[in-house]
Amino acid sequence: MRVLVTGGAGFVGSHTVVSLIEAGHEPVVVDNFINSDRSVLGRIGKLTGNVPELHEADIRDKDAMTDIARTGFDACMHFAALKAVGESVEKPMLYYDNNVSGTISLVEALLEADVNSFVFSSSCTVYGEPETLPLDESMPIGTATNPYGWTKIMMEQVLRDVQLANPDWSVSLLRYFNPVGAHPSGLLGEDPVGTPNNLMPYVARVAAGILPKLQVFGDDYPTADGTGIRDYIHVVDLAEGHLAALARHAGDAGVHTYNLGTGQGHSVLELVRAYEEVSSRPVAYEITGRRPGDVAASWADVTMATEHLGWMTTRDLHEMCADSWNWQQKAR
Ligand code: NAD
Ligand code: WQD
Repeated sequence: MRVLVTGGAGFVGSHTVVSLIEAGHEPVVVDNFINSDRSVLGRIGKLTGNVPELHEADIRDKDAMTDIARTGFDACMHFAALKAVGESVEKPMLYYDNNVSGTISLVEALLEADVNSFVFSSSCTVYGEPETLPLDESMPIGTATNPYGWTKIMMEQVLRDVQLANPDWSVSLLRYFNPVGAHPSGLLGEDPVGTPNNLMPYVARVAAGILPKLQVFGDDYPTADGTGIRDYIHVVDLAEGHLAALARHAGDAGVHTYNLGTGQGHSVLELVRAYEEVSSRPVAYEITGRRPGDVAASWADVTMATEHLGWMTTRDLHEMCADSWNWQQKAR
């Protein structure tokens, strides 16, 4: 299939582009490189023998998106978004504009060009504070604690309404849990600018001696060791989840909602210990106060994805840490 991939140079998008090429599809990347680097395209080429077609454009530019969409696609995978939770609190309008207005412009372009299969990067953040665990897709959408989270809730709603008004549309809402790790080649991964907000990139830099120590945000949660629990998922497993959704639902009218996680939670300290093991480096940490907006624990019920997509993860926490460490060590 010829697939329009917005945000295809980013962390999850680039791994999915590799999986698409490996499966014989033809991904076409749209990115404005606000949070990625052009060199990613060359690295995808090195990995797959195929440099994907690139359009440097902003998804908010409806005319540009319409011109691109009119070149003909079987489906669109929409990764492009801003995702820094703290920044979204400081700059809410930037997030609503980029993520929500951007999605609206993109969808308008797709409607004009008659591209009607859509795969969306949603997030477990839409569930808000979990009342019970694991989280399953039938649970009501919660209240976001930051503008980034609200953009995901809003975009899901926009897409459900678009599907209702255009019954031939296929919309897959993929709710990722906590994507981590890197491509095992060490050619693709996540390299946040400045101090990382997320746990694994931070731990990687402590192990590498770039940052002195990790702040563990709270050890007084009602969990076994008191630290927060999350469902970390290897980015290559996540990429494969997108291919499974495409294979199952492209051209299959309706809204299809899936959690993409492992179904297992790990605490902050478990992740730290796993990282120490694979890197043979100490990861110094101190316990500090809770981070505002954090939930104690979150993990997925993945029954829907297992049963309907025939997909499940195969990479465990050690492999996630090992591939992250391999990526961290490679000079770029
Ligand atoms: P990322 O920042 O690495 O990738 C996003 C890509 O989109 C970047 O290459 C960026 O340059 C591009 N982009 C952003 N705004 C754009 C615009 N207006 N026009 C064109 N390109 C634009 O992020 P990621 O981790 O790969 O996340 C991909 C998607 O998955 C996002 O929608 C994100 O919200 C969602 N998501 C991510 C996580 C996570 O923890 N990584 C979890 C749940 C959901
Ligand atoms: C994981 C655990 C922290 C950093 C975020 C977004 C969410 C989704 C995924 C996009 C928590 C603890 C972290 C640190 C720590 N993204 N931690 N010290 O917050 O679960 O999810 O990414 O949709 O919307 O909020 O991920 O990696 O930031 O935190 O102790 O320096 O690590 O408290 O328990 P989070 P995270």
